Amino acid sequence: MTQPPIVEARHVSRVFPMAAAPVTALSDVSIRIEAGEYVAVVGPSGCGKSTLLHILGCVDVPTSGDVLVQDRNVGSLSDAERSRLRLREIGFVFQRFFLLPMLTAWENVELPQAEAGVARLDRRRRTAELLEYVGLASRAAHRPSELSGGEMQRVAIARALANRPRLLLADEPTGELDQRTGGHIITLLDRLHEDGTAVVVVTHDVAVAACAHRLLTMRDGQIVEGSS
Ligand SMILES: Nc1ncnc2c1ncn2[C@@H]1O[C@H](COP(=O)(O)OP(=O)(O)O)[C@@H](O)[C@H]1O
Ligand SMILES: [Mg+2]
Repeated sequence: MTQPPIVEARHVSRVFPMAAAPVTALSDVSIRIEAGEYVAVVGPSGCGKSTLLHILGCVDVPTSGDVLVQDRNVGSLSDAERSRLRLREIGFVFQRFFLLPMLTAWENVELPQAEAGVARLDRRRRTAELLEYVGLASRAAHRPSELSGGEMQRVAIARALANRPRLLLADEPTGELDQRTGGHIITLLDRLHEDGTAVVVVTHDVAVAACAHRLLTMRDGQIVEGSS
């Protein structure tokens, strides 16, 4: 039995309508990410890496073309269905963490589970397990302002994993971190991949790219290498 790709983009373009002139961030991109893959996306600033990640993660929708998550065409879903799919199947880690500043590490990790309707006791167990997984059990009660950059990023990863997604997307997750702290994040991504999660990571960091099993190179809104 062959599994469908975990996410697939077919002839996807994304044009941002701007006052001066429209910006084509992605131009006819087709890509399949299989279950359990470990993919790095590289390319110069402005080439469309973040836009591609947002579209694969159903955070943004293409101007034309199709996105399929486990063979379901995302374009045919309602906004509510798309949000649900994203909440359940996809974890997203941003370069600047985007933790909620008023919530503790524990609460940041618990929130997406509450949104997905996970029962309180299960949430509690899962949150403890995740903070343990990222090595931050002792920081559960800390707010983001009381954490280092590396710790914030580990909380963000724990949050992204809250609902056991089969796909983790990370946009320059070590971009704001020093080398040693970035090393912890790389180790965490490796472990996730070993545990069976598909990982797609946008990076400038050669150490991150070296860990991936497939390298996609982008230029001017297109994948110029590694798409199959
Ligand atoms: N929300 C937006 N509105 C207008 N233009 C955007 C927006 N997001 C990205 N772009 C433009 O699309 C292109 C690709 O951006 P992006 O995907 O962020 O590149 P990268 O992540 O590779 O640096 C850039 O020219 C950028 O200015
Ligand atoms: Mg970017």
